[in-house]
Amino acid sequence: MTRTRSVNEDRSEYGITQGKEADGMTQPLTITLVGAGLRGMIYSGFSLKRPDHMRIVAVADPNELRRNRCKEKYDIEDNMVFASWSELFARPRVSDAIFICTRDRDHFEPAMKAMELGYHVLLEKPMSPDWQQCLELGRQADKYGRILSICHVLRYAPFFRKIKELLDSGRIGRLMSIQHNENVGYWHQAHSYVRGYFNSAESSSPMILAKSCHDLDIIAWLAGGKCLSVASYGHLSYFRPENAPPGAPKRCLDGCPVADECVYYAPNTYLIENGGWKAEAASSDPSYEARYKAMKEGPFGRCVYHCDNDVVDHQVVSMEFENEITAVFTMSAFTEKTSRTLKLMGTHGEIRASMETDEIEIRRFGSGEQEKIKLVPPEGHVGHGGGDSRLVYDFVKAVKSQGEHSSATSVHASIQSHLMAFASERSRLEKRMVRLDEFQ
Ligand SMILES: NC(=O)c1ccc[n+]([C@@H]2O[C@H](COP(=O)([O-])OP(=O)(O)OC[C@H]3O[C@@H](n4cnc5c(N)ncnc54)[C@H](O)[C@@H]3O)[C@@H](O)[C@H]2O)c1
Repeated sequence: MTRTRSVNEDRSEYGITQGKEADGMTQPLTITLVGAGLRGMIYSGFSLKRPDHMRIVAVADPNELRRNRCKEKYDIEDNMVFASWSELFARPRVSDAIFICTRDRDHFEPAMKAMELGYHVLLEKPMSPDWQQCLELGRQADKYGRILSICHVLRYAPFFRKIKELLDSGRIGRLMSIQHNENVGYWHQAHSYVRGYFNSAESSSPMILAKSCHDLDIIAWLAGGKCLSVASYGHLSYFRPENAPPGAPKRCLDGCPVADECVYYAPNTYLIENGGWKAEAASSDPSYEARYKAMKEGPFGRCVYHCDNDVVDHQVVSMEFENEITAVFTMSAFTEKTSRTLKLMGTHGEIRASMETDEIEIRRFGSGEQEKIKLVPPEGHVGHGGGDSRLVYDFVKAVKSQGEHSSATSVHASIQSHLMAFASERSRLEKRMVRLDEFQ
């Protein structure tokens, strides 16, 4: 028999429970935004929704258009607008905390400096593409007593919180095995990891760190113990020149013979009306002319088979944890939707869950019953299943309470899951099992 129940204790966009809003907040937390790009503008949006909790008071970004857009949106004073984080850090601290939302290779330096100057830091993942720098960031947070939170947004998504709650309450007995799939989505792979800024391990990070550090972090959280060793395989097999249709030019607009049938034909993504965040990445100027120019000259107008990408399009990792839990992770570009699907196997039952449908199914051995939990999505911006918004509120609470509010994660937990990614990449490249203690 299957019983289905719909669940969502709290549908508010930021997970702010009605009636408990005070949360000890008397003054809004002041924030400086470093990197007013796609991610930065998502997190900072909380200040417009809840100005009683948070206020953006300064911005640093070399992109004039983005900098000014941010200034106007949050009504930032002229003398609090900076052309780079180094210009900002020439001044003493200007806010309680800082959001560092620059690209992967521009995280370490500003985060180290910010903590030294007295800022609490919300830092985008990955902390750094260098594992030793990740450890150094943890040491800096400890040295100066700062809150350093990494944007592992999935930990805040109601979907994963529900699964964690079910495991912790023993609904399937002792957890033994985890199967976790990251369904990247063919179009998302093409946009971000073939044409886009995250397509090269050298200039950005390896895929397992850039995209899947979230998933390894979730797996470690669900396993509830330290990962001891990993083995990984993966390749860049499809988005390569030998798979280009005959006659396909380097750029889609240069008379591609398969324009009508190719699912990757760039104008269909970037020149349409309301191209959203993908069009914004191609051109921060949304006018048609600017986007057309970006198709003719910029990275997003390239044929997906003729790019300078080197990150994998599919990878698997198998893991062993100290509590004898084993886990298998699969990342694949070759899925229609962007989502996560999991199977968790315990001594008394199993959980099957799909983030795409927001459904979690629990089966207890011998009961003949299945319980299906259907999560009702939260309101407003639902990036990462509601995790984006909830992470921001959690950080604000953590800083306001001087660390007394216990957050869903810590910098040291993030370091551990980042090390799992570094170990996986080493394993994939060196074709051997890698122990995590190689990184201590
Ligand atoms: N947590 C998540 O789920 C998630 C999702 C996507 C991306 N990310 C990560 O977020 C980060 C940002 O990605 P994005 O897509 O927003 O990139 P983006 O390019 O849109 O934004 C980065 C911004 O940083 C600015 N910048 C560059 N140098 C600077 C400097 N010296 N001082 C201040 N600003 C500077 C750029 O001009 C740009 O506006 C990346 O590290 C990415 O991996 C995280």
